[in-house]
Amino acid sequence: MQSQYQHLIDLSDYPVSWWKKVIDLGEEIKNDPSRFAHECDGKVMATLFYEPSTRTQMSFQTAMIRLGGQIIGFDNPNNSSVAKGETIKDTTKIVSSYADVLVIRHPVAGAAKAASLTSDCSVINAGDGGHLHPTQTLTDLLTLQIEKKTLSDLTIGMCGDLLNGRTVHSLCKALSMFKGNKFVFISTPELMMPAYIKDIIKANGSTYEEVNSLEEAIPSLDVLYMTRIQQERFASQEEYLAQKNTYILDYQKMLLAKRDMIVMHPLPRVDEITVEVDDDPRAKYFVQAKYGVYVRMALILTILSEKKTSETLIGKLYPGVQCDNPKCITNHEGYLPKSFRFSGDETLLECEYCDERKLI
Ligand code: NCD
Repeated sequence: MQSQYQHLIDLSDYPVSWWKKVIDLGEEIKNDPSRFAHECDGKVMATLFYEPSTRTQMSFQTAMIRLGGQIIGFDNPNNSSVAKGETIKDTTKIVSSYADVLVIRHPVAGAAKAASLTSDCSVINAGDGGHLHPTQTLTDLLTLQIEKKTLSDLTIGMCGDLLNGRTVHSLCKALSMFKGNKFVFISTPELMMPAYIKDIIKANGSTYEEVNSLEEAIPSLDVLYMTRIQQERFASQEEYLAQKNTYILDYQKMLLAKRDMIVMHPLPRVDEITVEVDDDPRAKYFVQAKYGVYVRMALILTILSEKKTSETLIGKLYPGVQCDNPKCITNHEGYLPKSFRFSGDETLLECEYCDERKLI
């Protein structure tokens, strides 16, 4: 199957030079947004948000409006025909015939990939379950470029829910492509970074260590990326409560950090950063959210200006083989072709939608 539209499902589908082009354009827009005010006159962007969102949805909408375009969409699928049982395939097919670009957020991994298979316009992944969040990563890269003046040779601490946090998955994959970056994963044993992300880091030549104390890790960091415990991805309230409040960044811990360490957070924050930290000049999470508008303006412009035909699925179908991940879109929307890639080893298949591995 081929698609004639440019999609952004996973940043790894593009070379680093493409990400850099988008980030650099984002910085150019930040410095003079008015120059881009009519670049999308007459264009329509649809935002299909099957999951709650403040920043991602509104920054995408602001981005399109500031480019001169218009927006349609829903932020509550219960107000759309999804509530009547419509599949992603049908919703996407129709909405993509109304719009020039479709931005989708969904609670199930691989949903954006699934949408791109039948879309008649470009699809952007605005978060697919606990899997990936590539446009947050573009936001984070622009933040690092502006606030740290580099994307390389950084020691980056990631703290909190590393298992379910899609932002840290995408960001690790991206930052491990730049030379000299070291990761310090700070989490409880239950919420450690998934093995497939750690394998990608190693394969890209970056290093990581896993620790459980934020106090001990903080002095060595150039960047501290805090995350929320992802309550909605836990099987039970008890399991969530057992993890809640394990890591709290406060004034005392900030005293242990380097004077030029920056604190990032994709937001929303719950309890993991106390409000007193907001006044520390090293706290960059609010400005980070603002940079998200510029980088999304850059992304919309880039995606709409580049036309290329590509294969929608590059893996193979293995008759009778199904993905084992209950949170994978192929186990929710039965019509989808179940496509797998080989993951280095001849006995290990990787689901093309959610990256879950399976032994054959
Ligand atoms: C994040 C998300 O939705 O994954 N938020 C965002 O997009 N800025 C982080 C989160 O919800 O914890």
